[in-house]
Amino acid sequence: MKVIAGVVGNPIAHSLSPAIHNAWIVAAGLDAEYEPFLAPLDDFAGFVADLRDKGVRGVNVTIPFKEEALALASTPSDLARMAGAANVLVFHDGGIRADNTDGKGLLEALATQGFQPGDGPAVILGAGGAARGAAAALVLAGSPQVRIVNRTRERAHALAASLGDKVLDYQHAEDAFADAAVIINATSLGLGGGEGPHAPFECAPGSAVVMDMVYKPLVTDFLDKAAERGHPTVDGLEMLIGQAKPSFEAFFGRPPPAGIDVRAIALEAMR
Ligand code: ATR
Repeated sequence: MKVIAGVVGNPIAHSLSPAIHNAWIVAAGLDAEYEPFLAPLDDFAGFVADLRDKGVRGVNVTIPFKEEALALASTPSDLARMAGAANVLVFHDGGIRADNTDGKGLLEALATQGFQPGDGPAVILGAGGAARGAAAALVLAGSPQVRIVNRTRERAHALAASLGDKVLDYQHAEDAFADAAVIINATSLGLGGGEGPHAPFECAPGSAVVMDMVYKPLVTDFLDKAAERGHPTVDGLEMLIGQAKPSFEAFFGRPPPAGIDVRAIALEAMR
């Protein structure tokens, strides 16, 4: 029987996930389909229950439902719990399994530039849901220290306090950047081509890997400035692809087939 999975969000029309997953499905020769699902803002739970009743195997979850998705789960992963959000729900007889593969995607994206969490302190700019997910993934993967810098310091402080003693809030990016091994933009600044967050790269070691979670545009102002100073950079599309891989495996019970250039496919879908 055909396996149906998909991505639930609102809005959903511009999601790149269907293009990525369906390319893998075709290449793997699976009898399956991955669809975009537009859920009503006021009834995510009812919408998901309906998908489940219809026999859908599982779904990715995107803005603005990731926190609600975690709340629906009967068995959340440690990472999803710590991130306070889930982007994967898998339905089974006993209930709903939830995971957060955004964090895995982040680490996989950083690994493309040789970064490992144990390499040194991580700096995260921002203190919203994206920042929480990144901090949780880094801590669980063995980061020695995660430094949160945010416009609203109280939010950074609250986030740090909730994630344990490896996560600290810093008032000044200048201090946080010193001896950083990785610097991540998890704010919404730079989306759509605007200016990125305040980023004094001159205070960071030249070896620090710089990553932006924003992927529209692919080369943000933040990444552009980092590259100008010679930093290795990672864009948000790598993270999107990185989160899709374990999602695919959760739905279809096998890893995505090798040798498919899903980055090119996603870039084409973005145009
Ligand atoms: P998400 O869940 O996607 O992370 P969010 O919770 O709205 O989204 O968080 C957005 C982040 O971008 C926050 O860290 C926000 O800073 P504040 O906590 O001070 O609001 C940051 N951000 C958004 N616009 C900003 C701006 N103009 N200057 C600095 N930071 C900004």
